[in-house]
Amino acid sequence: MTSNNTFTREHYREAAAAIGRWSHLQPRIGLILGSGLNALADEAEDVQRIPYREIPHFPLTGVVGHVGQLVIGRLAGRAVLILQGRAHAYEGISLQQATLPVRVMHELGITTLIVTNAAGGINPNFRAGDLMLITDHIGLSAMIGHNPLWGPNDDTLGPRFPAMSKAYDPALRRLALAVAAEQRILLHQGVYCGLAGPAFETPAEVRFLRLIGADACGMSTVPEVMVARHMGMRVLAFSAISNMAIDDIDAPAEATHQEVLEAGRLLVPKLLRLLRHVIAVLPED
Ligand code: HPA
Repeated sequence: MTSNNTFTREHYREAAAAIGRWSHLQPRIGLILGSGLNALADEAEDVQRIPYREIPHFPLTGVVGHVGQLVIGRLAGRAVLILQGRAHAYEGISLQQATLPVRVMHELGITTLIVTNAAGGINPNFRAGDLMLITDHIGLSAMIGHNPLWGPNDDTLGPRFPAMSKAYDPALRRLALAVAAEQRILLHQGVYCGLAGPAFETPAEVRFLRLIGADACGMSTVPEVMVARHMGMRVLAFSAISNMAIDDIDAPAEATHQEVLEAGRLLVPKLLRLLRHVIAVLPED
């Protein structure tokens, strides 16, 4: 695998400066919305919407279900910066470019990153339509070199060898669980396995993922979390289980993106209620 270091802090600062000209708000909370979950941003108030194409160096996304705009506004009374849709490396860009928005959020002063995704359920106790708090991840594709931190390290941003043992902030996880209990929202906890995509998994791969300890799998999140943790941002992440990954070659059904989007839409009200209440009580820093 080759080094893909084509961006430097200057690029991140240029993008941040362009975004800063659009809004007077100075959010400390960032939110990334996954497939089918874009409607979460529609609830924000006092909003500025910035199409990704207006932001220097920002990766454009062509995936259906990802709007491709940055929203700055207020959710639950708190200033938030929302990425309405994300670009994925499988669209033909480097992982460094795919994760550039996280670098830019950091330049803008975001200290807490909330990541959401649509994911395939691996844990047999899960059902499509459930929510999972990510407690940890298996960066399967990152472990074999498809990693956004490859290339020269900018020591002003973070260490060469960042720790990932507390990638998902323990205090924020506790807070999310308390909010879910209070709101009577079923919130599973589990390990997310990050895959490169874009093909869905074979049944043998699904059984392999279950064997190695994955509860859900998807094609995003891990690179963003690695980059965020590299810079010391606090991370909280949720998977919306849009479908159960198919573990049987004789199963009649096949996974489709359409099903992911439809499940996402159904999940939005529940996830939004959870996020609103979590954001309302996030600690200031
Ligand atoms: N596999 C991988 N990624 C996904 C899935 C899946 O079943 N569902 C939503 N994203």
